[in-house]
Amino acid sequence: MIELNEVSYSYGGDALLSDISLRLAPGSFHFLTGPSGAGKSTLLKLCYMELMATQGTVTLFGRPAHEIGRDGVASVRRRVGIVHQDCQFLDHLPLLENVALPLTVSGQSTEANMAEMQELLAWVGLSSKLRALPPELSGGERQRAALARAVVMSPDVILADEPTGNLDWEMSLRLLTLLVELNRMGKAILVATHDLNLIRQAKAQVAARVLRIKDRRLQLAGADL
Ligand SMILES: Nc1ncnc2c1ncn2[C@@H]1O[C@H](COP(=O)(O)OP(=O)(O)O)[C@@H](O)[C@H]1O
Ligand SMILES: [Mg+2]
Repeated sequence: MIELNEVSYSYGGDALLSDISLRLAPGSFHFLTGPSGAGKSTLLKLCYMELMATQGTVTLFGRPAHEIGRDGVASVRRRVGIVHQDCQFLDHLPLLENVALPLTVSGQSTEANMAEMQELLAWVGLSSKLRALPPELSGGERQRAALARAVVMSPDVILADEPTGNLDWEMSLRLLTLLVELNRMGKAILVATHDLNLIRQAKAQVAARVLRIKDRRLQLAGADL
């Protein structure tokens, strides 16, 4: 569904990423590791057209990114759920409206989708927080809300950037369980993380492939995790 072919990327100077090939097929689960500054977030941004490859081709749902262009980004993004590293919310809007924002932006009303919204928020364990404002939520609640917002449009692919970055172990496991459930529904999942314990735990639950950025390139990580 998302495919990178011999992709390189540079912010202007030397290449940060070189010769990256990756295929996110339906139902696949990938982890992306590598030290801070290796280019994990950059690689995710290439996958959702926040950045365009300096060389090589990124293909989304069968169309090369350079053909989709700026005008087509919105339609592609509807099929890609993104959980950002710093999950930002509109602080003056209650949680329910924040999670429903992608629907609102695409012209659908929260009211018309209320049953689905309540089901979604129950799934992430936030039924009692519908009216809460984002600043009133804990880190774990914010991350689960960010995941709910990422899946509200029923995307085919979910890209998560350090989704458990600030969470304790119990909450990290809870988030992992949600990602595994989405994967079992056939969604392609790519999680950037440096939490190797999380990866070990996930491998007990799903057939996840672990990729690592090393010296600008993407490698398949072995048993040496
Ligand atoms: N907008 C930008 N302009 C220039 N350099 C950037 C930009 N964004 C990130 N970088 C640099 O690219 C490198 C990789 O960043 P990033 O993809 O965020 O790595 P990671 O997510 O693995 O920590 C870092 O050295 C970072 O400083
Ligand atoms: Mg990052």
